[in-house]
Amino acid sequence: MADENGTTIRIESRGPDDTRKIGKAIGRRLMGGEVILLKGTLGAGKTTLVQGIARGLDIEGPVQSPSFVLERIHRGRLELRHLDLYRLTGAETMDAGLLSDMGEDDVTVIEWAERAEGLVQADLEVRIEKTSEEEGRSIFIEARNPAWQSLLVEVQSTC
Ligand SMILES: Nc1ncnc2c1ncn2[C@@H]1O[C@H](COP(=O)(O)OP(=O)(O)O)[C@@H](O)[C@H]1O
Ligand SMILES: [Mg+2]
Repeated sequence: MADENGTTIRIESRGPDDTRKIGKAIGRRLMGGEVILLKGTLGAGKTTLVQGIARGLDIEGPVQSPSFVLERIHRGRLELRHLDLYRLTGAETMDAGLLSDMGEDDVTVIEWAERAEGLVQADLEVRIEKTSEEEGRSIFIEARNPAWQSLLVEVQSTC
């Protein structure tokens, strides 16, 4: 479902595998240099989505939440920088330098991006909401970069 600007799609997930599939569809389309913001409550499925993004980048190892270490880096066809800002304030995030060093060959995915509001320019913003079904999630994906509008249509058609 597109909003009136055609920049946000919504996909219903019926379980973790659906969410990983959506992540993989995004990951396959990444070209390097992208920043992806992930929002949603604890247990919404942010890390699960990142597991799919990693598969789409040909990363094979396990992807766990970096909520204690703040940052994990995985190497695939691009480098995946996986950040989790849960424990930080916006000021601490800046002090930690986590939002610098974003290179052309890496992709930065930020869990708890609410903490970095206004601090970073993003290509995609993903919001995951629980539904009344135990494993149901509504996943809203907004293209903050116009180049992603058509890619999101592709993502939606494969998920
Ligand atoms: N549709 C779904 N999508 C993602 N995770 C789901 C879904 N349904 C149930 N889950 C479960 O919810 C939990 C999500 O955890 P996680 O991805 O770590 O969330 P977050 O990073 O947002 O805190 C996992 O235990 C996962 O198996
Ligand atoms: Mg997480």
